[in-house]
Amino acid sequence: MKIDLTGQSAVVIGGAKGIGAAIVRSFLDAGARVTALDMDNEALLVLSQENGENLNTAVVDITDETALNEFASGEAVDHLICAAAIGSGKPGFPFWKMKPRDWSKVIDVTLMGTVNALHAFVPALLEGDTQRKSVLILSSVAGQIGSQTDPPYSASKAAVINFAQCAAKDFAPYGVRVNALSPGMVKTELNESVFEANRKDSSSTYDDWAEEKIQKTSPLGRWQEPEEFGATAVFLASEGGRNITGQTINVDGGQVMHS
Ligand SMILES: NC(=O)c1ccc[n+]([C@@H]2O[C@H](COP(=O)([O-])OP(=O)(O)OC[C@H]3O[C@@H](n4cnc5c(N)ncnc54)[C@H](O)[C@@H]3O)[C@@H](O)[C@H]2O)c1
Repeated sequence: MKIDLTGQSAVVIGGAKGIGAAIVRSFLDAGARVTALDMDNEALLVLSQENGENLNTAVVDITDETALNEFASGEAVDHLICAAAIGSGKPGFPFWKMKPRDWSKVIDVTLMGTVNALHAFVPALLEGDTQRKSVLILSSVAGQIGSQTDPPYSASKAAVINFAQCAAKDFAPYGVRVNALSPGMVKTELNESVFEANRKDSSSTYDDWAEEKIQKTSPLGRWQEPEEFGATAVFLASEGGRNITGQTINVDGGQVMHS
């Protein structure tokens, strides 16, 4: 069944590349008007050229609270998706290989960027027909399993799951739903940067590292594709998702099972 979001609007933060860009495309396919925010101007230009008139783009750094507030004021939004995040780029196993100060930038972007975004868009989310509105925060399996690759990243991802639950309760009286979406392994720049940071020797390849990790951790034994997050995000924004809030949806080939 094709989901129709014609007449609705979505803002995708971190929408220029990877999973965010796939979510942008899925909302456009569903007929929504989309604004992609990102700090990567070049990638936004490519995205604009590939997509039609229903897409707007703007360069915003989510650590810049003032810029986000300025952008969000007066913006109509039915669905807010927060996909922007970074890893530390450092080897994180064992955790004491890193310095406490290595955590700051990751927390600033991955946790505080998400906090900034939700704060900035509260007025827009509480305006108009709130019953159809939703927020989706990209988390990670790493936020649920104590992943031994990048502790500040894992801790930020655990924190956004908790924040999604707080926000879900706060927004519930208005009918606005808030969920977290957790990918497993997706071929993107961010995923490859984890391999680079933890690379053991020059002969190992990203594909070999990822294949071994997937076979070890994922029951379905395969990569997740960016488009699978677009499909899930559109479903959660749609009528079909109207009773789902405060949840963490793992699209991870079965990596995380609470059983
Ligand atoms: N790729 C994976 O395997 C994987 C696994 C689990 C979770 N995730 C999560 O999925 C989301 C998307 O990740 P991805 O793999 O597509 O990464 P990506 O690096 O391909 O895309 C992230 C986007 O966020 C943007 N961004 C980064 N810092 C920003 C800032 N300060 N302000 C504005 N934009 C900023 C980047 O420019 C980029 O376009 C992230 O939240 C990530 O943590 C990814």
